[in-house]
Amino acid sequence: INRAVITSVGHYLPEHRLTNEDLEQMVETNDEWIRKRTGIKERRILKDDDKATSFMGAEAAREALNERGISADEIDTIVVATVTPDYLFPATACMVQEKIGASNAYAFDVSAACSGFLYALTTGAGFIESGRAEKVLVIGSDKMSSIVDYTDRSTCILFGDGAGAVLLEASEDETGIIDYIHHTEGDTDLALYQPAGGSLNPASEQTVADGLHYAKQDGRKVFKKATVGMADVCEEIMEEHQLTADDIDWLVPHQANKRIIDVTANRINLDEDKVMINIDRYGNTTAGTIPLCLYDWKEELSHGDKLILAAFGGGYTWGSIYLKW
Ligand code: ACO
Repeated sequence: INRAVITSVGHYLPEHRLTNEDLEQMVETNDEWIRKRTGIKERRILKDDDKATSFMGAEAAREALNERGISADEIDTIVVATVTPDYLFPATACMVQEKIGASNAYAFDVSAACSGFLYALTTGAGFIESGRAEKVLVIGSDKMSSIVDYTDRSTCILFGDGAGAVLLEASEDETGIIDYIHHTEGDTDLALYQPAGGSLNPASEQTVADGLHYAKQDGRKVFKKATVGMADVCEEIMEEHQLTADDIDWLVPHQANKRIIDVTANRINLDEDKVMINIDRYGNTTAGTIPLCLYDWKEELSHGDKLILAAFGGGYTWGSIYLKW
């Protein structure tokens, strides 16, 4: 098989910063609680009413294409991971395809909450590995501010808006995506979900009056599952490939809570200087966190570096990817 390798990375972050101090004015909370419990200092918010997830995804994709110096019509496939699509349908990927002018690409979305980027990346890699595609854009983009209740202190402190995009091509050497392990466990308790707007509870005046279009989370329950799930799935893939902490150059974790990241890094005995952490600046951007980390660290990454990507999210969905940069 052809191995799929990431050949460029792009990103988009809105300019507006929502700080912990701003949130102190909005809900009963304080900077110290938020920093200690989550590691977050500020998040970015997309203020323009006429712009949403596809706008951010398209900006990130354009940057990735520019960096690689190729035009959009060379793209075969576009996969967008998001839980905040522009519309429930058509897919946000179709909007991105039109915005960037990728006229030869077919495009679709992947819905796997905070694990969305990992699932999308392995989906995109599959097209390269099979030889069906030569150039695939994988995008993680979320405008979480569109589903966050800014009167609910248990969720509004966590999330931010942003997008990242990677270009996948066939590897010419031994680098690229080596393996992945993904898991799903249907969350019958609905510990993390958006109650209304889907086919079970279609949007109505009542659902809006009841605030059921906002993301709801049982934070404690999800926290427990996330710490165990992310650490376990990192161990699993390391065992599978007989990797020790010394072999790993970087852990690229989903940024939901700094404490979840710390537990994961500790379990696999990885020093903090090998862990990508930008949750302090952007909060949890859901599908955006992992490609935004890759973007922020791209100057420090060397060819052949061994990376473990890991995420846990609503669904429940979780997984890890082992790749050589
Ligand atoms: N400011 C001040 N106090 C607060 C706040 C706040 N913003 N929010 C909650 N509290 C209070 C609670 O009311 C509670 O008070 P009590 O003890 O008097 O009842 C106390 O602080 C502790 O609350 P907990 O919910 O137990 O706090 P916890 O330490 O669990 O932190 C958090 C909450 C940050 C939400 C954490 O549970 C978490 O990160 N959960 C997991 C998030 C996650 O990984 N999600 C998955 C990915 S997201 C996706 O897939 C879309």
